[in-house]
Amino acid sequence: MPLRPGLEGVPVTQSSICDIDGNQGSLKYRGYPITELASNSSFLETTFLLIWGELPSKQELSDFEREVQMHRRLSFRVRDMLKCFPESGHPMDALQSSAAALGLFYSRRAIDDPKYIYNAVIRLVAKIPTMVAAFQLIRKGQDPIQPRDDLPYSSNFLYMLTEQEPDPLSAKVFDRCLILHAEHSLNASTFSARVTASTLTDPYAVVASAVGTLAGPLHGGANEDVIAMLEEIGTPHKAGEYLDNAIKNKQKIMGFGHREYRVKDPRASILQNFGEELFARFGKDEMYEVAKSLEEEAIDRLGPKGIYPNVDFYSGLIYRKLGIPRDLFTPVFAISRVAGWLAHWREQLGANRIFRPSQIYTGMKTRTWTALEERPNNKDE
Ligand code: SDX
Repeated sequence: MPLRPGLEGVPVTQSSICDIDGNQGSLKYRGYPITELASNSSFLETTFLLIWGELPSKQELSDFEREVQMHRRLSFRVRDMLKCFPESGHPMDALQSSAAALGLFYSRRAIDDPKYIYNAVIRLVAKIPTMVAAFQLIRKGQDPIQPRDDLPYSSNFLYMLTEQEPDPLSAKVFDRCLILHAEHSLNASTFSARVTASTLTDPYAVVASAVGTLAGPLHGGANEDVIAMLEEIGTPHKAGEYLDNAIKNKQKIMGFGHREYRVKDPRASILQNFGEELFARFGKDEMYEVAKSLEEEAIDRLGPKGIYPNVDFYSGLIYRKLGIPRDLFTPVFAISRVAGWLAHWREQLGANRIFRPSQIYTGMKTRTWTALEERPNNKDE
C-alpha cells in the first residue's frame, strides 16, 4: 500500500450521513441537498435528520426540541469550573475542557443502551451553546445568564451571549449558519471523533477530541484568521497585491482551498447570500467588500489549481455582524458540528472496528544500548 499523507482519497469507513461532490460543488445530508435544508429546515430538525437518518415527524421534532430545551442548563460545578479558567484562555480550550468534564457527570458509559445514547445526544446538543456563552460572560467578569426556556435554540444562544433577545432576522440567519456547518463527511474533526468513538469511550470524550481537532487554523480555526487577513488587506483595491505577496511567500490564504472541493464551496455561496440579507438590514461591512475583491482577484491566480473560497471565508463576516466576538467563531462552528460528530459516533458504534492504520517505518535499524560513559560527550564526536 503506497504512503497516502493525510489519508488523501483513502476510504476508511462506509457512511450514509453526508455526500459531497467536490467537482460539482454539491453537498447533501442524508440525501437532502444543503440548499433545501438551509432554506427550509431548522438546526434542530437538521440535527435530528443527521443523527437518526430521517426528517422527524411533527411529534418527534416537538419532543426533541423540548428535551433539548430542558437540558440547556449547566451543573453549578461546570459553571464553577469555567470560572477557574484564565479569561485570557482561548474559548475553544474552555469548550474542549468543559465538554470532556460532562463525562464526569454522566459516566455510565452504557453505549450499548439506546436511552443512554439518546440522552448523551440531548445533553451535548443542549449544553454546548450554554458552555460557550457562559465562558464569554465569565471572562468579561460577569455571571453567566441562565438559558431562557421561551426562546428557540438559536435565539437562546444569542440571548445568553449578548444578554439581548436577538432580532428575528439575526436569529434566522444564525440558525441557518448552524445548518450549513453541521456536517461535512470525514473532515479532520469528524475523523477524530470516529477514531475516538472506535475505542468505545464515552461520547463526551468523543466530542472533546473533535473540539480539539476543529480548533486548528487549517480546519475550523480558519474563520477567525480570515477576518484578521481582511483587516490586514484593509481596502478592496489592495487585495491583488496581498494575494501576489502571499503566493510569492507560499503563504496559505485563509478561507480558501479544500481537500474535497475543486470549485467554490457551496456553503460559501449560501453564506454570502445570508450575509447580504444582514448587511441590507443592519448596514454594510467594508470587510465584505474586501472579501469579494479578494475572491475576484483569486480566480485567475488560484482558480486553475482548484483553490476557491471555502465555508470559513464568509462565515466570520456574518458572525461579526451578529455581535459574536472573533475568538468565538470556531466555538460557534463546534456548536453546529456536534450534530455531525454525534451522527458519526452513532454510525461508528453501529459497525465498529477500532481504527489502527499502519505506517512505513523509516527509522534506524536494530542498535545495541551503550552505557553512559561509553557515549560521545556531544553528537558530532
Ligand atoms: C474546513 O475537510 C473539511 O470538510 C473541512 C471543512 C468542514 O466543513 O469540516 O470544510 C471546514 O476546515 C475548511 C478549510 C478551512 N481552512 C482554511 O481555510 C486554511 C487554508 N486552507 C488550506 O490550509 C488548505 O486548502 C486545506 C487545509 C483546507 C486543504 O489542504 P490540502 O487539501 O491538504 O491541500 P494542500 O495543503 O496539500 O495544498 C495543495 C496545493 C499546495 O500547492 P503546491 O505545493 O501543490 O504547489 O494547493 C495549495 C498548496 O500550497 N493550497 C493553497 C491553499 N490551500 C492549498 N495555496 C494558497 N492558499 C490556500 N488556502
